[in-house]
Amino acid sequence: MKIRAVGLCLATLLICTCFPSAREAQQTGSSTSKQKAKESVYSEIGKAPEKARAQHNPLEKDPDAVAAGQILFEQRCAECHGDRAEGGKKGPSLRAAEIQTAEPGAIFWVLTNGVVRKGMPVWSKLPEPQRWQLVSFIQSLGAAPPKPETSPTSSAQPPAAKGAFLPRR
Ligand code: HEC
Repeated sequence: MKIRAVGLCLATLLICTCFPSAREAQQTGSSTSKQKAKESVYSEIGKAPEKARAQHNPLEKDPDAVAAGQILFEQRCAECHGDRAEGGKKGPSLRAAEIQTAEPGAIFWVLTNGVVRKGMPVWSKLPEPQRWQLVSFIQSLGAAPPKPETSPTSSAQPPAAKGAFLPRR
C-alpha cells in the first residue's frame, strides 16, 4: 500500500513538473506567431511576397525610364514624399536604405497595393510601365540621409537679408 502511495505521489509530481513546461512551450509558440513585426514606416515593403520580389524591372535598361519616372514622381508623389523623394510632411523619405536596397519588384508591389491605412495611396490604376518608371527613378536617386528638420524659409534666406530690414518710422 505504502509503496503504491509513494508511486502515486511521484507520478503526480512528475505530471506537475512536466505540464507547466509543456504549457509554456505552447504559449511561446502562439505568442511568437502573434508577435507583430516592429512597425516602421518601411515595414510594408518587407511584406512583399516572394513572387513580387522576383519580378524584374522590364525597363531596367531603358535609358528614358528614369526621366519619365521623375516627371511622374513630381506629378503624383512629390506632394507627400518631396521633389527628390527626400521625405515630406505627409510621406517618409524614399532615399532610406530600406527602399534603395529593396528589390525593384518589392517597390512595384508597394505601388500596386499602397499602404492605405497609413496614407499611402494605391497606384494600380497607373499603367504598369509607368509604375516601373517610378521604380527606376526612385532607385536612381541613391541613399541620402533624412532631411534635417529646418523650415525651408529660414534656411533659404541669406543672413545678410536680416540687416536689410529698415526700422519702421
Ligand atoms: C497622399 C500622400 C502620398 C502620396 C501622394 C504618395 N505616397 Fe508613398 N507613402 C505615403 C505614406 C504616408 C507612406 C508611409 C506608409 C507606411 O507607414 O507604411 C508612404 C510610403 C511609401 C513607400 C514605402 C512603403 C513601405 O511602407 O515600405 C514607397 C516606396 C512609396 N510611398 C512610394 C510612393 C510613390 C512612388 C508615389 C507616387 C506614385 C507615392 N508614394 C505617393 C504617402 C504618400
